[in-house]
Amino acid sequence: MFDRLKDVRLDSIIHSFREYSADTNVNKIDLGMGVYRDSEGITPIPQSVRIAQKWHLASETQKTYLAPEGIPHINSRFQDLIFGKRYSDSRIQTIQTPGGTCGLKLTALLLKRLNSGTTIWIGAPAYLNHKSIFQDSGLRVGYFASTNQRHQAFLESYIEAISLMKRDDAIVLQACCHNPTGVKLKETDWHLILNECGKVGVLPIIDSAYFGLGDGLKNDLYPLRYIVKNLPQAIIVSSCSKNFGLYRERVGFLSVVGNKKKDLDNCFSHILKDARGMYTSPPAFGAFIVDLILSQPTLKSMWLSENRVMRNRLIDLRSSVACVLRDIGFNVDACRAIEDGRGLFALLDLDDYQVTQLKKIHGIYLLDNSRINIAGLNKYNIDYFKSSIASVI
Ligand SMILES: Cc1ncc(COP(=O)(O)O)c(C=O)c1O
Repeated sequence: MFDRLKDVRLDSIIHSFREYSADTNVNKIDLGMGVYRDSEGITPIPQSVRIAQKWHLASETQKTYLAPEGIPHINSRFQDLIFGKRYSDSRIQTIQTPGGTCGLKLTALLLKRLNSGTTIWIGAPAYLNHKSIFQDSGLRVGYFASTNQRHQAFLESYIEAISLMKRDDAIVLQACCHNPTGVKLKETDWHLILNECGKVGVLPIIDSAYFGLGDGLKNDLYPLRYIVKNLPQAIIVSSCSKNFGLYRERVGFLSVVGNKKKDLDNCFSHILKDARGMYTSPPAFGAFIVDLILSQPTLKSMWLSENRVMRNRLIDLRSSVACVLRDIGFNVDACRAIEDGRGLFALLDLDDYQVTQLKKIHGIYLLDNSRINIAGLNKYNIDYFKSSIASVI
């Protein structure tokens, strides 16, 4: 029966990394995969993580299964971190998930159970996996423009799109460090967008994959706290891949905000049924590391300062990259967006031919939509990047 299947291409994030790995060009640069890299091109294991894992290994006595929801005290500690202790109340419930990706998948499955007619709205340009996750779960996906032609946040488009959505539709919003644009929403933008969701009855799904790497925890998590104070319901999907450097340990959390405890309990009974069917028990190791870091004051302040180092490097690098591109006469608006944006990503607005030339001739790997991971650039490769881009524009 396998002969009935046609080949399906994995998204260009995975594809670009495979091409990069196979390339023998000594100057090749990987700007495709979305991981933080330091000035030496390394994706570091933070010192706080190294210490926490040593402590954990020294005290670990068993490796039995966790319950599908993970470990309750770890879930509440994480919930306190992201919502702030003040706001982290009985209106929210949180479970651990294998990375943010599984949190998104569980969200999709829940929405499918709730109302298979729901449309999931995604701002374009979009993170590639959002579409796959929601569509492959049997939900309808729709798009609206989230940036204008000058690469800025397109607030009017958000508001108009939401006003036209149906009650019980859902909208996927990224809390900070937007993937793939890097475009940042101001607090006042969040008020308008989220208030409109509340007015129309649209469910916000906040994907918080990069918190800490934009403008610090408090700013990056602002929409979550605004939601708890002002909206009846929302879903928050968090990841500890980038901000804790725990990528392959697969640590994420799924939080649901609702008005009644009974509704939340019912919601989680369905979510946990899907978790049970998909993976039964979330990976424990990374969750213990996160818990140790958040519970031990010395580790927590070490992690916060390591987070600051990553964030500051990204901000400085964005300015350097914008500068380098301005030098070669690159699109002025794209340069400003790189400088003003936050996080790992920027869109260069290159066409398919230019992207192919960069890969095939120069060994510079970016996504098909010309998204680059700024953190892949450093003092050793930025001149090569500059001359390569200059030769394709
Ligand atoms: C926007 C966004 N959401 C979610 C994720 C999922 O991350 P993970 O599954 O590693 O937690 C990523 C990872 O790149 C992402 O960029």
